[in-house]
Amino acid sequence: MVMTVIPARLNDKKDKLILIDQTLLPEQEKFLELDLVEDIFEAIKKLRVRGAPAIGVAAAFGLYVCILKSEATTVGAFKREFEEKRDYLATSRPTAVNLFWALDRMTNRLNKEENKTVEEIKAALLDESEKILAEDQEMGKAIGEYGLSLLKPGMGLLTHCNAGGIATSGYGTALAPMYVGYEKNYNFKIFADETRPLLQGARLTAYELFKAGLDVTVICDNMASIVMKEGKIDAVLVGCDRIAANGDTANKIGTSGVAILAKEYGIPMYILGPTSTIDMNTLTGDDIEIELRDGEEIINGFGKRTAPEGVKTYNPAFDVTAAQYITAIITEKGIVWPPYKDNLKKLF
Ligand code: MRU
Repeated sequence: MVMTVIPARLNDKKDKLILIDQTLLPEQEKFLELDLVEDIFEAIKKLRVRGAPAIGVAAAFGLYVCILKSEATTVGAFKREFEEKRDYLATSRPTAVNLFWALDRMTNRLNKEENKTVEEIKAALLDESEKILAEDQEMGKAIGEYGLSLLKPGMGLLTHCNAGGIATSGYGTALAPMYVGYEKNYNFKIFADETRPLLQGARLTAYELFKAGLDVTVICDNMASIVMKEGKIDAVLVGCDRIAANGDTANKIGTSGVAILAKEYGIPMYILGPTSTIDMNTLTGDDIEIELRDGEEIINGFGKRTAPEGVKTYNPAFDVTAAQYITAIITEKGIVWPPYKDNLKKLF
């Protein structure tokens, strides 16, 4: 029932990273087999794998398959190679903290095993990356149950971008309560913002919810206000790329506008994400680096030029929703209510 495709995993021999190429969905379900650091970097940068938790899993497995080929005979030389590849992967995308979180976990594991042989360290890195995937698979169900406790059968739900099974490895985050609710006959009416410019809402959220049999309606981003005004939305559920220590949250561009609208219409705005997306070292949203992407994505999307060639563009991929617009943050460890500065700290 729930999305069964794991967006980032290892092949059976455990020497290649397998990704479903999300840039080709929903038309084509094509799987990529990668083991070169340049290809893994490219896949993350070009959003072949995307969504904060899936980026973390891809980075961990990606780093593992690259370093598995190392011919280093001393731990020192192996560590240098590892760090070079890790630092390169860390420059693929700046906003989702899960990328850095996963690379840090791999680094900490290596440091912990440093007195072992190169082969033993490789085995430990495999174990760590598999743990990251397993934890990711588990967190979605818990987020789904906590999220569902705030919802009622028959509700209208709005989501933005894609924070579903294709962005994690199971139930997703924002979509998790929808899947868990579906299993319990909640009959939600789900609205998916199409999410310009890369259409993660239309291509991915609609794809996975529709395929799983849920009631989903695609709207253009600029229709969120009217569906709220018409009383079709009872709650907004979105994912997150980085939650700062004060609760300010970076998510796909357009999320902050939806949050401001929701406040105006008196609709609760929930952020759903794993604790790995909370970055207590980032104090406020102002400290979050926002990825700027190629303007061609706006004016020449999906092979169709829709604005004059050479016109100026501005293409930030994320925005920050200020904590004051967020009703609650739902994690696998429980629901966090304001004041976020105190309550996020308690979570750790
Ligand atoms: O640019 P993307 O597609 O990687 O952006 C994804 C989002 O903004 C998601 O909402 C977020 O990563 C959460 S995915 C569980």
